[in-house]
Amino acid sequence: MAQTVQSPQIVDTSAIVEDIYKNTMDIAWRFDYEFTEQKVEDLYSRAKQNQWDAEEILDWDYEVDPSKPLIGGNDSVYSKLSFFKKLSKSQQEEFLAHSTAQLLSQFLHGEQGALMTAATVTHSVPDSGAKLYAATQTIDEARHVEVYAKYCNKIAMTYPMSPWLKALIDLTLKSDKYQKVMIGMNMIVEGLALGAFNNMYRTTSCPLLKDITFNVMRDESRHVSFGHVFLGPVIKNMHPDDVEDCAEFAFNAVKHLLTATAGGTGASDTDPGFLLVLKNCNIDPKDFFASIKEGEDAGIFSETPPGQIHSVKDLMMPALARVGLITERTRSFYEQANIPLWEDTTILTRMEDGKTDEALLNEAVAAAE
Ligand SMILES: [Fe+2]
Ligand SMILES: [Fe+2]
Repeated sequence: MAQTVQSPQIVDTSAIVEDIYKNTMDIAWRFDYEFTEQKVEDLYSRAKQNQWDAEEILDWDYEVDPSKPLIGGNDSVYSKLSFFKKLSKSQQEEFLAHSTAQLLSQFLHGEQGALMTAATVTHSVPDSGAKLYAATQTIDEARHVEVYAKYCNKIAMTYPMSPWLKALIDLTLKSDKYQKVMIGMNMIVEGLALGAFNNMYRTTSCPLLKDITFNVMRDESRHVSFGHVFLGPVIKNMHPDDVEDCAEFAFNAVKHLLTATAGGTGASDTDPGFLLVLKNCNIDPKDFFASIKEGEDAGIFSETPPGQIHSVKDLMMPALARVGLITERTRSFYEQANIPLWEDTTILTRMEDGKTDEALLNEAVAAAE
């Protein structure tokens, strides 16, 4: 039975209906109709076999209590911070409910960005097999928009898109090369998302959200894998100047991401949506961001609890390093920006597609523990 949620804190985003801009991307025809990479053909086959209908396989009748946190207090990185410890139990629950809704809203808006980047790759990539694969990613992303829109609707809390996330996806969509679109989406944004989905899957107490996340992760693991199996050989064969151009693009995107958010929490004092979370929960932003700073200084955000994955350290940076996008020149940019270079691909390779769903998750968790 569908439930009616009465909440005085529903966020109205209906005023923001669109943002339109032009890009200069080439559109490529191909007439060979062949896969040039066996691994891309394998991904395409698995994508076809693993399609799912969100209306059929998920229990949308499950009643979610939007006032209760969707993740447990001890599983949240916020629980380690001084501002959180000062809150009453009910304030802690309220903050976790709202900050999770804000995070889920970023999943929703980010999925729309992924939908558009996958469609962009479909028309711009000059490879027949990659076009077919990117078309499957496009329908995957449409399904992800569908499920997160439905779930946010169910909890009756949708927050606006964070400016840092929109800027990152806009940078990707406005780029002039399909390679950059794939770097921005299949390596950086999806690396970030796959880690966040894994952690959501591990920590949520809501069975419906757990099922949604599990099924989305199955698709996302293919998307991250595409960034490697297709783009890896492309980068190897590129002119060194073009490699440098792409490597610099990757560096700028990573730097943007890391400077915009505190330790990947999504908390930002320049994000009106996140400030609204604090307002809705009667938390003083000054107190909150001082506490975040304290946590950063204490290294809280670079540690991950057992079973959880650090998106930047475990997925995004190793993915860039593996395909040669951290060059001698950009290595010094990372050093100057104080961004550590993580190149261990153990967790990344375990998260990628190519195995059964259960094996995929179990291996990822085992690797992180
Ligand atoms: Fe997605
Ligand atoms: Fe994706």
